[in-house]
Amino acid sequence: MANILIIDDEDTYLELCERHLSEHTFVPPARNFREAKERLASSPVPIELVLLDVHFNIEEAELLPADKSGLKGSQREVTERLRRTQGFKILEALRPGYPDLPVVVMTSVEDLPIGLDAERLDAEDYTYLLDDEYLDARALRVQVQSILRQREDSREDETFYWGTTRVMRSLRQRLSVLARGQLPLILTGPTGSGKSLLAREHIHRRSGRSGDFVAVDLSTLPESLMAAHLFGVVKGAYTGATANREGVIERAKGGTLFLDEIGNLSLELQKSLLLVLQDHKYRPVGSVEEHSSDVKLVVATNEDLGLMVRDGRFREDLLMRLNPATAVRLPSLRDRKDDFEELLAYFLRRVCAHGYNKDLLARYAHRHGLSSGEDGLEVAVVTQKPGAAQPGRLTFLLHKSSAGSLREFEWPGNFRQLEMVLSNLVTFTLVSLVEDAGAPSPVSANAATIRTDVVPFPVKTVVELLRGFSVEEDASGGDEDAVEVLVRAHESLNAVSCDVERQYLERLYLKYDGDLDRIAELLLEDGSAGRKVQLRMNQLGIRLRVLQRRVRS
Ligand SMILES: Nc1ncnc2c1ncn2[C@@H]1O[C@H](COP(=O)(O)OP(=O)(O)OP(=O)(O)O)[C@@H](O)[C@H]1O
Ligand SMILES: [Mg+2]
Repeated sequence: MANILIIDDEDTYLELCERHLSEHTFVPPARNFREAKERLASSPVPIELVLLDVHFNIEEAELLPADKSGLKGSQREVTERLRRTQGFKILEALRPGYPDLPVVVMTSVEDLPIGLDAERLDAEDYTYLLDDEYLDARALRVQVQSILRQREDSREDETFYWGTTRVMRSLRQRLSVLARGQLPLILTGPTGSGKSLLAREHIHRRSGRSGDFVAVDLSTLPESLMAAHLFGVVKGAYTGATANREGVIERAKGGTLFLDEIGNLSLELQKSLLLVLQDHKYRPVGSVEEHSSDVKLVVATNEDLGLMVRDGRFREDLLMRLNPATAVRLPSLRDRKDDFEELLAYFLRRVCAHGYNKDLLARYAHRHGLSSGEDGLEVAVVTQKPGAAQPGRLTFLLHKSSAGSLREFEWPGNFRQLEMVLSNLVTFTLVSLVEDAGAPSPVSANAATIRTDVVPFPVKTVVELLRGFSVEEDASGGDEDAVEVLVRAHESLNAVSCDVERQYLERLYLKYDGDLDRIAELLLEDGSAGRKVQLRMNQLGIRLRVLQRRVRS
């Protein structure tokens, strides 16, 4: 059962739906864009699906766009045209605010063709009404049920985060189809891109197979044990084989067998695997008897199997059997710049929900009275100081330079690495606040502006964590905040240190384009203390106006 909003200027669809889809709840219909916006924003129940008409015979003033001055044609022509395509104008205006809302576009046959617009605006599907109530209702019912089922499924695999980009959405759809088929599936992608997680959480679940999911990492299995591990072994086959032992191909019978790093399989075992794929037949080590097992095979690799075939390291017939035409490549984290902020928020929530971080958060919340009962604390990450505090919410503040560093980082270990960095970041940030009872307030020492619901991530910690993961160190030892200063002889040690400090601040000022808050965050771990840095620079006789000119030039 779902809450459905119908956007339509007439009651045709509403009547049809209420009669034939009576298990769902229909919120009062919206007659135009203004009403649709209002319903979506203030409906007392969450709206889970929208059915949208295309043709709207409404007053000109209600038609989108509000400003029609630039549109070609006479006023009558413009109005007519807008009425005929109003549904898409409405969807176009609603989409940015509701990127995930499923919308079924409904139209009659005369309004063809609408497919292209529907796709561009991420409409879930479109349906033609046929002047045959029975057929219409049946088609609609199938559509609505399938959309709602997909929504349930996506709740299920929350452990694999898909994000909202079109690329990932179509990858997800494609994988759902491939998961249900009988054919094997190749997953490629760099380390940490989610191949193993995807095989377990998405593909096996969607396969509809009743057997188990069994995973084997061939990169960690000694070659001498591989055959027995895969195919099983009979008692006495070799010294040490003291009993019959089942292999993973047997254990995955009727289910999914995931072979990770398939490139590590010897040529001989590749041949045996080919037989499993061709005839579902295999022979345990030391056995004369053939066994049979029907598994859905999913393999993953970091390597280019085509290249391995050319080098004679992988059997071409096996590669062909593995269905290479539908191989799925998972993008690296570097290729996910479009939804990087959302990924950050997702992984942050995830690292806060487990283990030590969960404990630290609970202690922090308890200490500052932020607890929110059963559901625990909601965490968010922002790059600008948030508005008013919200009960039960803790906001991590990421300085914009840190956000930039995270975004631009190479991430050779992809999502695995992002998760580790964020987990460490939360731990290091919270541990000092929780364990040090006398710690200063998180945001500012000024009592009037104390915001215990906002915790800044120290820029230094971000820099250090990323540096710890950098493969190559540059000449400055990999420290991106290092600057060079010249130590000159002076009459006193104090004069030397003032000179060094002056040069240091000048260099930082130039390096960070005069962003004093950024320097304060780095030096004082307080991103709002730019004023203090400025005072110190004045004390040291630094002429800010001259520096400012250099920054601008
Ligand atoms: N889309 C995702 N949603 C949620 N977590 C993810 C996602 N992708 C990767 N991860 C996280 O990254 C970790 C690494 O993922 P996984 O082990 O599936 O990568 P892999 O591609 O199999 O890497 P390898 O090639 O090293 O075996 C997982 O434990 C998971 O926590
Ligand atoms: Mg893996």
